[in-house]
Amino acid sequence: MTAYQHPKLSVYNLPWPTDWAQVFGRSAPLIVEIGFGNGSYLLELARQNPDCNVIGLEIASRSLEKAERKLGLNGVHNARAVFSKAEAALAHLFEPRSVREFHINYPDPWFKKRHSGRRLVQADTATYLVSRLEVGGRLHLATDIREYADMAHEVLSSAPALENCLPTPWTHTFPRLTMTKYEAKGLAEGRPGHYFLYQRTADPFAEPPATQELSMPHVVIYTPVPATEIVAAHREQQFHPTEGVHIKIRDAFLHQNGRAVLFEAEVIDPTIEQHVAIMLYPREEPDTFTVKYTTLGQPRMTAGLHYATGLLAKWVAELHPEGRILSSKIAADVG
Ligand SMILES: C[S@@+](CC[C@H](N)C(=O)[O-])C[C@H]1O[C@@H](n2cnc3c(N)ncnc32)[C@H](O)[C@@H]1O
Repeated sequence: MTAYQHPKLSVYNLPWPTDWAQVFGRSAPLIVEIGFGNGSYLLELARQNPDCNVIGLEIASRSLEKAERKLGLNGVHNARAVFSKAEAALAHLFEPRSVREFHINYPDPWFKKRHSGRRLVQADTATYLVSRLEVGGRLHLATDIREYADMAHEVLSSAPALENCLPTPWTHTFPRLTMTKYEAKGLAEGRPGHYFLYQRTADPFAEPPATQELSMPHVVIYTPVPATEIVAAHREQQFHPTEGVHIKIRDAFLHQNGRAVLFEAEVIDPTIEQHVAIMLYPREEPDTFTVKYTTLGQPRMTAGLHYATGLLAKWVAELHPEGRILSSKIAADVG
């Protein structure tokens, strides 16, 4: 069996926002499943909704591989598996009011209190889910964990522009397309499903727009310090320039016969995490460098990447009293 390496579609290679009609080759209502696991439910969604474009979001490579094989073997053309954290996809790939249905089956419970921030169903994500639904569009959620059900009820019943379609917070019997793996596991272990069904209303609220990509940041610096000494001076650096942005410049490597420097960095924006390479390229003029991204790792230009470029350029310039920034193309609200 060949290793599954690069998902064909991902939040790192799709346009922000994505023109789904172009991806599918036809315009049709969108149905999105979040965390599709082994892909059985995704397959059924596609089969039973031939007039819809069905998108599955997953972060586990094995699940993506399995689902793509399942869809291919069954000759299903109206579904696509996408590698993305749901939170990133909701923020970057989908326009407000563009999705007919969301399906979330048995999300990871994250029992420990210190991990509860990782839960999928929480106020911020709910705002995005509602915003991306068409008016009248529906959100299906199932969980076998009572504590998760209580929390989901609290979050969903207080979300803006969302109404419960059931007379109770959830129900234990609901017509299902097919039994999912975790549903079967829960039942076998004596935990019945708690099924939720909500619908978007026409009530207006402050909807977050699809977060677009910024232009490529670009900084030119003067410094008499050669690349070899810049690498020697570097130790892991961490920055937290603004709420929700975390930058770690891990390592520095000599490149281009010792004339350039490659910095390996992790950049976390509120909506997406990236592992990127920031380069310090020598320019024709002596003792000057350009700081910019390589295409390695498919960097997407977020505010975090702009901050990282500016902070790294400043650090290099400050290594020498004569060092200075000569020009800087950094997003205005970051620079
Ligand atoms: C408990 S499993 C449930 C799988 C399947 N829905 C089922 O019912 O059998 C949760 C799934 O969600 C995926 N997942 C976890 N966090 C996610 C996120 N933030 N975005 C997308 N998928 C996620 C996991 O990789 C895993 O496949």
